[in-house]
Amino acid sequence: MDIGIIGAGALAKSLAHHWHKQGHQVMISQLAAADPAPVQPALPGIRTGSALEAAKFGEIVVLAAGGPGITQALAEVKKVEAKILVDLSVPFPADFPVRVGGWAASGAEEIALQMPKLHVVKVYSTVTTHWQDNLPLQRPPVVLYCGDNALAKSIVARLIRESKLAALDIGPLSMARYIEMLAMLNVTIKQHCQAKGLCISLLAQ
Ligand SMILES: NC(=O)c1ccc[n+]([C@@H]2O[C@H](COP(=O)([O-])OP(=O)(O)OC[C@H]3O[C@@H](n4cnc5c(N)ncnc54)[C@H](OP(=O)(O)O)[C@@H]3O)[C@@H](O)[C@H]2O)c1
Repeated sequence: MDIGIIGAGALAKSLAHHWHKQGHQVMISQLAAADPAPVQPALPGIRTGSALEAAKFGEIVVLAAGGPGITQALAEVKKVEAKILVDLSVPFPADFPVRVGGWAASGAEEIALQMPKLHVVKVYSTVTTHWQDNLPLQRPPVVLYCGDNALAKSIVARLIRESKLAALDIGPLSMARYIEMLAMLNVTIKQHCQAKGLCISLLAQ
């Protein structure tokens, strides 16, 4: 499949690497790519482009920008046709316009409201990139995902497995509220407890 990734942080790069190895065509972008500076370090076989180019390129578009970049990235996604949007962002309320940060709303649902042609799947927010350090894993961490479109979810479940993680469907997109809250807790643990590589995670028994 053609996958466009907007954002080139650690998680985005490792997903790009895994998916490329599985035979997908991948384009990755960073904010500076609008200049157009290449993504550093260079990822062999993976294309680079602006956020808009990545959004146009992918049948699947991955929102992997952080902070204020989330809003900027979404402005580019808005310009393209209906696609699957893989939302791995952790939308802290300060970074996202409205509705997020509680039990009654989520960033992923807000995106779906703003862009009804997109099939939004919330996923990866609860993992850290540290699973990469210990591959191959006998018991891979379980990645929670949710969304309202069954086909989009089945495609994303395959991508999760191709990134060497286990996939667990927890239902409709409204469940993103809990995924995002859990992700915020993980970020808090990392920042306030200075606990590198420690996060709340599920292990298959
Ligand atoms: N890292 C993790 O382990 C992890 C795990 C789960 C979820 N997440 C979530 O994933 C998101 C990204 O996290 P991160 O750790 O990868 O952040 P990061 O290291 O700060 O990287 C963010 C990337 O997004 C790019 N970017 C920002 N705005 C953009 C735009 N409008 N268009 C294109 N690229 C843009 C930045 O480009 P420049 O470098 O040019 O500024 C940078 O490459 C966040 O919401 C985070 O909470 C991260």
